[in-house]
Amino acid sequence: DGLDLAEGESHMHREMHEQPISAERMLRGRLDARFGTSHLGGLNLDARDLRAVKRVKILGCGSAYYVGQMGAQLIEELARVPADAEAASEFRYRNPIIEPDTLYVAVSQSGETIDTLLAVQEIQRKGGRVLGLVNVVGSAIARAVDGGVYLHAGPEVAVASTKALTSMFLGFALLALQLGRVRDLSIADGQRIVAGLEALPGQLKEALDLEPQLADVARRLAEAPSLFFVGRVRGYPVAREGAQKLKEISYRHAEAYQTSELKHGPLALISPAVPTVALVPDDELAERNVGALHEIAARGGPLVVVTHAGVDLGDLETSEAVDLTRIDVPRNEAELDPVLMTVPLQLLAYHASLHLGLDVDKPRNLAKSVTVE
Ligand code: AGP
Repeated sequence: DGLDLAEGESHMHREMHEQPISAERMLRGRLDARFGTSHLGGLNLDARDLRAVKRVKILGCGSAYYVGQMGAQLIEELARVPADAEAASEFRYRNPIIEPDTLYVAVSQSGETIDTLLAVQEIQRKGGRVLGLVNVVGSAIARAVDGGVYLHAGPEVAVASTKALTSMFLGFALLALQLGRVRDLSIADGQRIVAGLEALPGQLKEALDLEPQLADVARRLAEAPSLFFVGRVRGYPVAREGAQKLKEISYRHAEAYQTSELKHGPLALISPAVPTVALVPDDELAERNVGALHEIAARGGPLVVVTHAGVDLGDLETSEAVDLTRIDVPRNEAELDPVLMTVPLQLLAYHASLHLGLDVDKPRNLAKSVTVE
Protein backbone atom coordinates (compact mmCIF):
# COMPACT_ATOMS: atom_id res chain seq x y z
CA ASP A 1 0.00 0.00 0.00
CA GLY A 2 1.01 3.62 -0.30
CA LEU A 3 -0.17 7.07 -1.15
CA ASP A 4 -0.21 6.89 -4.94
CA LEU A 5 -3.73 6.65 -6.26
CA ALA A 6 -4.89 5.36 -9.59
CA GLU A 7 -6.57 7.99 -11.77
CA GLY A 8 -9.94 8.88 -10.26
CA GLU A 9 -9.52 6.59 -7.25
CA SER A 10 -10.25 7.89 -3.79
CA HIS A 11 -8.18 7.21 -0.69
CA MET A 12 -11.14 5.58 1.00
CA HIS A 13 -11.65 3.14 -1.86
CA ARG A 14 -7.98 2.31 -1.90
CA GLU A 15 -7.86 1.87 1.87
CA MET A 16 -10.93 -0.37 2.00
CA HIS A 17 -9.36 -2.64 -0.56
CA GLU A 18 -6.06 -2.75 1.33
CA GLN A 19 -7.75 -4.49 4.25
CA PRO A 20 -6.81 -8.07 3.32
CA ILE A 21 -3.15 -7.01 3.16
CA SER A 22 -3.15 -4.74 6.20
CA ALA A 23 -4.95 -7.39 8.25
CA GLU A 24 -2.37 -9.96 7.30
CA ARG A 25 0.39 -7.56 8.28
CA MET A 26 -1.28 -6.93 11.64
CA LEU A 27 -1.36 -10.67 12.38
CA ARG A 28 2.02 -11.59 10.95
CA GLY A 29 4.32 -13.21 13.52
CA ARG A 30 1.77 -12.71 16.28
CA LEU A 31 -0.25 -15.95 16.09
CA ASP A 32 0.75 -19.15 17.84
CA ALA A 33 -1.26 -22.02 16.31
CA ARG A 34 0.47 -24.63 18.46
CA PHE A 35 -0.63 -23.20 21.79
CA GLY A 36 -3.70 -21.35 20.54
CA THR A 37 -2.47 -17.97 21.67
CA SER A 38 -0.75 -14.81 20.44
CA HIS A 39 2.58 -13.07 20.90
CA LEU A 40 2.50 -9.35 21.49
CA GLY A 41 6.01 -8.14 22.19
CA GLY A 42 5.24 -4.60 23.24
CA LEU A 43 2.74 -5.18 26.04
CA ASN A 44 5.40 -5.05 28.77
CA LEU A 45 3.24 -7.49 30.75
CA ASP A 46 4.20 -11.04 31.71
CA ALA A 47 1.81 -13.94 32.37
CA ARG A 48 1.59 -13.01 36.06
CA ASP A 49 0.63 -9.39 35.21
CA LEU A 50 -1.95 -10.66 32.72
CA ARG A 51 -3.44 -13.02 35.28
CA ALA A 52 -3.74 -10.16 37.78
CA VAL A 53 -6.01 -8.16 35.44
CA LYS A 54 -9.51 -8.05 36.94
CA ARG A 55 -11.16 -5.73 34.46
CA VAL A 56 -10.47 -4.12 31.06
CA LYS A 57 -11.52 -0.60 30.20
CA ILE A 58 -11.20 0.55 26.59
CA LEU A 59 -11.11 4.22 25.61
CA GLY A 60 -11.36 5.75 22.17
CA CYS A 61 -13.39 8.29 20.20
CA GLY A 62 -15.83 7.88 17.32
CA SER A 63 -15.24 4.74 15.33
CA ALA A 64 -12.33 3.76 17.59
CA TYR A 65 -14.81 3.77 20.47
CA TYR A 66 -17.23 1.54 18.52
CA VAL A 67 -14.46 -0.93 17.69
CA GLY A 68 -13.55 -0.73 21.36
CA GLN A 69 -17.07 -1.98 22.12
CA MET A 70 -16.48 -4.90 19.76
CA GLY A 71 -13.15 -5.50 21.51
CA ALA A 72 -14.71 -5.44 24.98
CA GLN A 73 -17.15 -8.15 23.92
CA LEU A 74 -14.33 -10.25 22.47
CA ILE A 75 -12.36 -9.95 25.70
CA GLU A 76 -15.36 -10.92 27.82
CA GLU A 77 -16.18 -13.86 25.56
CA LEU A 78 -12.68 -15.28 25.22
CA ALA A 79 -11.04 -14.30 28.49
CA ARG A 80 -14.13 -13.99 30.72
CA VAL A 81 -12.71 -10.76 32.15
CA PRO A 82 -15.29 -7.99 32.61
CA ALA A 83 -14.61 -5.41 29.91
CA ASP A 84 -16.27 -2.31 28.58
CA ALA A 85 -15.56 0.60 26.25
CA GLU A 86 -16.23 4.24 26.88
CA ALA A 87 -15.95 7.41 24.82
CA ALA A 88 -12.59 8.89 25.80
CA SER A 89 -14.06 12.37 25.31
CA GLU A 90 -16.40 11.83 28.29
CA PHE A 91 -14.25 9.72 30.56
CA ARG A 92 -12.19 12.28 32.46
CA TYR A 93 -15.13 14.59 33.09
CA ARG A 94 -16.88 12.16 35.39
CA ASN A 95 -13.97 11.73 37.81
CA PRO A 96 -13.59 8.05 36.92
CA ILE A 97 -12.46 5.51 39.51
CA ILE A 98 -9.03 4.26 38.50
CA GLU A 99 -8.26 0.79 39.82
CA PRO A 100 -4.79 -0.80 39.95
CA ASP A 101 -6.02 -4.19 38.69
CA THR A 102 -7.87 -2.71 35.70
CA LEU A 103 -6.06 -2.81 32.39
CA TYR A 104 -6.79 0.39 30.43
CA VAL A 105 -6.51 0.31 26.64
CA ALA A 106 -6.41 3.48 24.54
CA VAL A 107 -7.27 2.91 20.89
CA SER A 108 -6.50 5.43 18.16
CA GLN A 109 -5.58 5.42 14.48
CA SER A 110 -3.78 8.77 14.50
CA GLY A 111 -2.43 8.56 18.04
CA GLU A 112 -3.07 12.31 18.21
CA THR A 113 -6.73 12.51 19.26
CA ILE A 114 -6.62 14.95 22.17
CA ASP A 115 -9.56 13.45 24.06
CA THR A 116 -7.95 10.02 24.04
CA LEU A 117 -4.54 11.41 24.98
CA LEU A 118 -5.97 13.37 27.92
CA ALA A 119 -7.82 10.26 29.11
CA VAL A 120 -4.51 8.36 29.08
CA GLN A 121 -2.83 11.08 31.10
CA GLU A 122 -5.66 11.20 33.63
CA ILE A 123 -5.45 7.43 34.18
CA GLN A 124 -1.69 7.57 34.60
CA ARG A 125 -1.93 10.52 37.00
CA LYS A 126 -4.09 8.33 39.22
CA GLY A 127 -1.71 5.37 39.06
CA GLY A 128 -3.39 3.34 36.30
CA ARG A 129 -1.58 1.42 33.59
CA VAL A 130 -2.52 2.03 29.95
CA LEU A 131 -1.85 0.00 26.83
CA GLY A 132 -2.10 1.58 23.38
CA LEU A 133 -3.58 0.16 20.18
CA VAL A 134 -2.26 2.82 17.83
CA ASN A 135 -1.53 3.02 14.12
CA VAL A 136 0.84 5.97 13.77
CA VAL A 137 4.29 5.08 15.06
CA GLY A 138 5.79 7.63 17.43
CA SER A 139 2.50 9.56 17.79
CA ALA A 140 1.59 11.32 21.05
CA ILE A 141 -0.54 8.44 22.39
CA ALA A 142 2.02 5.83 21.32
CA ARG A 143 4.65 7.74 23.30
CA ALA A 144 2.45 8.28 26.35
CA VAL A 145 1.25 4.71 26.98
CA ASP A 146 2.98 2.10 29.16
CA GLY A 147 3.05 -0.53 26.42
CA GLY A 148 1.01 -1.54 23.43
CA VAL A 149 0.53 -2.88 19.97
CA TYR A 150 1.01 -1.07 16.70
CA LEU A 151 -1.73 -1.63 14.13
CA HIS A 152 0.53 -1.76 11.04
CA ALA A 153 -2.36 -0.57 8.84
CA GLY A 154 -0.08 1.75 6.85
CA PRO A 155 -0.96 5.40 6.22
CA GLU A 156 -4.68 6.12 6.34
CA VAL A 157 -5.63 9.35 4.58
CA ALA A 158 -9.41 9.26 4.11
CA VAL A 159 -11.28 10.91 7.00
CA ALA A 160 -13.54 7.85 7.19
CA SER A 161 -11.45 5.19 8.86
CA THR A 162 -11.59 1.66 7.42
CA LYS A 163 -8.44 -0.43 7.43
CA ALA A 164 -7.23 0.97 10.77
CA LEU A 165 -10.52 -0.09 12.38
CA THR A 166 -10.09 -3.62 11.08
CA SER A 167 -6.59 -3.75 12.55
CA MET A 168 -7.94 -2.43 15.87
CA PHE A 169 -10.41 -5.30 15.96
CA LEU A 170 -7.60 -7.75 15.29
CA GLY A 171 -5.53 -6.13 18.04
CA PHE A 172 -8.34 -6.77 20.49
CA ALA A 173 -8.62 -10.37 19.30
CA LEU A 174 -4.89 -10.89 19.91
CA LEU A 175 -5.14 -9.33 23.35
CA ALA A 176 -8.24 -11.39 24.20
CA LEU A 177 -6.38 -14.56 23.23
CA GLN A 178 -3.48 -13.72 25.56
CA LEU A 179 -5.75 -12.80 28.43
CA GLY A 180 -7.84 -15.91 27.78
CA ARG A 181 -4.99 -18.39 27.53
CA VAL A 182 -3.58 -17.47 30.95
CA ARG A 183 -7.09 -18.08 32.32
CA ASP A 184 -9.86 -20.49 31.32
CA LEU A 185 -9.69 -20.41 27.52
CA SER A 186 -8.89 -23.97 26.43
CA ILE A 187 -6.11 -24.75 24.00
CA ALA A 188 -8.76 -26.05 21.56
CA ASP A 189 -10.74 -22.80 21.73
CA GLY A 190 -7.53 -20.79 21.42
CA GLN A 191 -6.62 -22.80 18.31
CA ARG A 192 -10.11 -22.30 16.92
CA ILE A 193 -9.71 -18.52 17.20
CA VAL A 194 -6.17 -18.60 15.78
CA ALA A 195 -7.47 -20.55 12.77
CA GLY A 196 -10.30 -18.04 12.40
CA LEU A 197 -7.84 -15.15 12.45
CA GLU A 198 -5.68 -16.87 9.84
CA ALA A 199 -8.71 -17.17 7.56
CA LEU A 200 -9.75 -13.54 8.01
CA PRO A 201 -7.58 -11.76 5.40
CA GLY A 202 -8.99 -14.01 2.65
CA GLN A 203 -12.53 -13.53 3.90
CA LEU A 204 -12.09 -9.75 4.02
CA LYS A 205 -11.27 -10.01 0.33
CA GLU A 206 -14.46 -12.05 -0.28
CA ALA A 207 -16.47 -9.44 1.64
CA LEU A 208 -14.96 -6.68 -0.52
CA ASP A 209 -16.02 -8.65 -3.60
CA LEU A 210 -19.62 -7.82 -2.59
CA GLU A 211 -18.94 -4.28 -3.82
CA PRO A 212 -21.17 -4.36 -6.97
CA GLN A 213 -24.14 -5.53 -4.89
CA LEU A 214 -23.53 -2.84 -2.25
CA ALA A 215 -23.15 -0.17 -4.94
CA ASP A 216 -26.64 -1.09 -6.14
CA VAL A 217 -28.11 -0.98 -2.64
CA ALA A 218 -26.37 2.34 -1.95
CA ARG A 219 -27.88 3.94 -5.04
CA ARG A 220 -31.33 2.96 -3.81
CA LEU A 221 -30.79 4.06 -0.22
CA ALA A 222 -28.81 7.23 -0.82
CA GLU A 223 -31.89 9.39 -1.24
CA ALA A 224 -33.58 8.25 1.99
CA PRO A 225 -33.58 11.13 4.47
CA SER A 226 -33.09 8.81 7.42
CA LEU A 227 -32.08 5.20 8.04
CA PHE A 228 -31.82 2.77 10.92
CA PHE A 229 -28.91 0.42 11.51
CA VAL A 230 -29.81 -2.35 13.91
CA GLY A 231 -27.95 -5.22 15.54
CA ARG A 232 -27.84 -7.12 18.81
CA VAL A 233 -24.97 -7.92 21.18
CA ARG A 234 -22.02 -8.53 18.81
CA GLY A 235 -23.91 -6.79 16.03
CA TYR A 236 -24.74 -3.60 17.89
CA PRO A 237 -21.32 -1.90 17.73
CA VAL A 238 -21.23 -2.91 14.06
CA ALA A 239 -24.53 -1.09 13.56
CA ARG A 240 -23.13 1.98 15.36
CA GLU A 241 -20.08 1.98 13.13
CA GLY A 242 -22.21 1.54 9.99
CA ALA A 243 -24.44 4.47 10.92
CA GLN A 244 -21.40 6.60 11.71
CA LYS A 245 -19.81 5.92 8.32
CA LEU A 246 -23.00 6.81 6.45
CA LYS A 247 -23.41 10.06 8.40
CA GLU A 248 -19.79 11.05 7.91
CA ILE A 249 -19.54 10.77 4.17
CA SER A 250 -23.08 10.79 2.76
CA TYR A 251 -24.60 13.35 5.18
CA ARG A 252 -27.67 11.14 5.54
CA HIS A 253 -29.19 10.84 8.97
CA ALA A 254 -28.63 7.36 10.32
CA GLU A 255 -29.40 6.02 13.74
CA ALA A 256 -28.05 2.86 15.29
CA TYR A 257 -30.25 0.89 17.63
CA GLN A 258 -30.27 -2.42 19.41
CA THR A 259 -32.71 -4.56 17.42
CA SER A 260 -34.31 -5.63 20.69
CA GLU A 261 -35.03 -1.99 21.61
CA LEU A 262 -36.92 -1.11 18.42
CA LYS A 263 -40.25 -2.12 19.94
CA HIS A 264 -39.59 0.16 22.90
CA GLY A 265 -39.89 3.31 20.82
CA PRO A 266 -38.30 3.76 17.40
CA LEU A 267 -40.67 1.35 15.65
CA ALA A 268 -42.99 4.37 15.53
CA LEU A 269 -40.67 5.89 12.94
CA ILE A 270 -40.57 2.91 10.58
CA SER A 271 -42.31 3.51 7.27
CA PRO A 272 -41.68 2.88 3.54
CA ALA A 273 -39.54 6.06 3.58
CA VAL A 274 -37.18 4.85 6.34
CA PRO A 275 -34.98 1.89 5.39
CA THR A 276 -33.32 -0.36 7.97
CA VAL A 277 -29.96 -2.04 7.61
CA ALA A 278 -30.12 -5.08 9.90
CA LEU A 279 -27.25 -7.26 11.05
CA VAL A 280 -28.36 -10.85 11.41
CA PRO A 281 -25.39 -13.16 11.97
CA ASP A 282 -25.96 -16.89 12.10
CA ASP A 283 -25.80 -17.10 15.87
CA GLU A 284 -28.06 -17.90 18.81
CA LEU A 285 -29.99 -14.65 18.27
CA ALA A 286 -30.78 -15.18 14.59
CA GLU A 287 -34.36 -16.32 15.14
CA ARG A 288 -35.13 -13.39 17.42
CA ASN A 289 -33.54 -11.02 14.92
CA VAL A 290 -35.71 -12.39 12.13
CA GLY A 291 -38.74 -11.82 14.37
CA ALA A 292 -37.83 -8.14 14.63
CA LEU A 293 -37.45 -7.93 10.84
CA HIS A 294 -41.08 -9.03 10.54
CA GLU A 295 -42.08 -6.08 12.72
CA ILE A 296 -40.25 -3.73 10.37
CA ALA A 297 -41.63 -5.37 7.21
CA ALA A 298 -45.19 -5.19 8.59
CA ARG A 299 -44.82 -1.39 8.66
CA GLY A 300 -43.53 -1.29 5.09
CA GLY A 301 -39.93 -0.53 6.10
CA PRO A 302 -37.42 -1.47 3.37
CA LEU A 303 -34.80 -3.94 4.67
CA VAL A 304 -31.17 -4.57 3.86
CA VAL A 305 -30.17 -7.68 5.77
CA VAL A 306 -26.47 -8.32 6.31
CA THR A 307 -26.34 -11.99 7.22
CA HIS A 308 -24.77 -15.41 6.64
CA ALA A 309 -25.73 -18.01 4.05
CA GLY A 310 -27.25 -20.35 6.67
CA VAL A 311 -29.83 -17.90 8.03
CA ASP A 312 -33.43 -18.62 7.04
CA LEU A 313 -35.33 -15.40 6.44
CA GLY A 314 -38.48 -17.38 5.59
CA ASP A 315 -41.32 -15.57 3.85
CA LEU A 316 -39.57 -12.22 4.23
CA GLU A 317 -37.55 -13.24 1.21
CA THR A 318 -40.39 -14.68 -0.83
CA SER A 319 -43.21 -12.25 -0.11
CA GLU A 320 -43.86 -9.70 -2.88
CA ALA A 321 -44.99 -7.23 -0.26
CA VAL A 322 -41.59 -7.08 1.44
CA ASP A 323 -38.78 -4.88 0.10
CA LEU A 324 -35.74 -6.89 1.21
CA THR A 325 -32.17 -7.15 -0.04
CA ARG A 326 -30.04 -9.92 1.36
CA ILE A 327 -26.25 -9.56 1.69
CA ASP A 328 -24.44 -12.78 2.64
CA VAL A 329 -21.02 -12.16 4.16
CA PRO A 330 -18.44 -14.91 4.64
CA ARG A 331 -18.70 -16.70 7.95
CA ASN A 332 -15.86 -17.08 10.43
CA GLU A 333 -15.96 -17.98 14.13
CA ALA A 334 -18.92 -16.21 15.72
CA GLU A 335 -16.62 -14.09 17.94
CA LEU A 336 -14.76 -12.76 14.88
CA ASP A 337 -17.74 -12.24 12.59
CA PRO A 338 -18.33 -8.58 13.56
CA VAL A 339 -15.25 -7.41 11.65
CA LEU A 340 -16.48 -9.08 8.45
CA MET A 341 -19.88 -7.47 8.88
CA THR A 342 -18.35 -3.98 8.95
CA VAL A 343 -17.07 -4.34 5.37
CA PRO A 344 -20.44 -4.18 3.53
CA LEU A 345 -21.33 -1.16 5.66
CA GLN A 346 -18.14 0.61 4.56
CA LEU A 347 -19.01 -0.15 0.95
CA LEU A 348 -22.56 1.07 1.46
CA ALA A 349 -21.46 4.42 2.89
CA TYR A 350 -18.80 4.81 0.23
CA HIS A 351 -21.16 4.22 -2.69
CA ALA A 352 -23.89 6.39 -1.17
CA SER A 353 -21.39 9.26 -0.98
CA LEU A 354 -20.18 8.62 -4.51
CA HIS A 355 -23.73 8.49 -5.85
CA LEU A 356 -24.55 11.80 -4.19
CA GLY A 357 -21.47 13.38 -5.76
CA LEU A 358 -19.83 14.21 -2.43
CA ASP A 359 -16.16 14.40 -1.48
CA VAL A 360 -15.65 10.89 -0.08
CA ASP A 361 -12.18 11.52 1.34
CA LYS A 362 -12.75 14.94 2.87
CA PRO A 363 -16.30 15.25 4.19
CA ARG A 364 -17.48 18.66 5.31
CA ASN A 365 -16.90 19.75 8.92
CA LEU A 366 -14.59 16.84 9.78
CA ALA A 367 -10.84 16.49 10.23
CA LYS A 368 -8.87 13.26 10.06
CA SER A 369 -7.76 13.67 13.63
CA VAL A 370 -9.20 15.98 16.24
CA THR A 371 -6.27 17.50 18.09
CA VAL A 372 -8.07 20.32 19.93
CA GLU A 373 -10.80 19.86 22.49
C1 AGP B 1 -13.78 7.47 11.69
O1 AGP B 1 -14.37 7.18 10.47
C2 AGP B 1 -13.93 8.86 12.16
N1 AGP B 1 -13.43 9.81 11.21
C3 AGP B 1 -13.63 9.19 13.60
O2 AGP B 1 -14.72 8.77 14.36
C4 AGP B 1 -12.34 8.64 14.24
O3 AGP B 1 -12.43 7.25 14.34
C5 AGP B 1 -12.11 9.31 15.60
O4 AGP B 1 -12.01 10.70 15.47
C6 AGP B 1 -10.90 8.76 16.33
O5 AGP B 1 -9.72 8.99 15.62
P1 AGP B 1 -8.39 8.27 16.02
O6 AGP B 1 -8.59 6.81 15.78
O7 AGP B 1 -7.32 8.85 15.15
O8 AGP B 1 -8.15 8.53 17.48
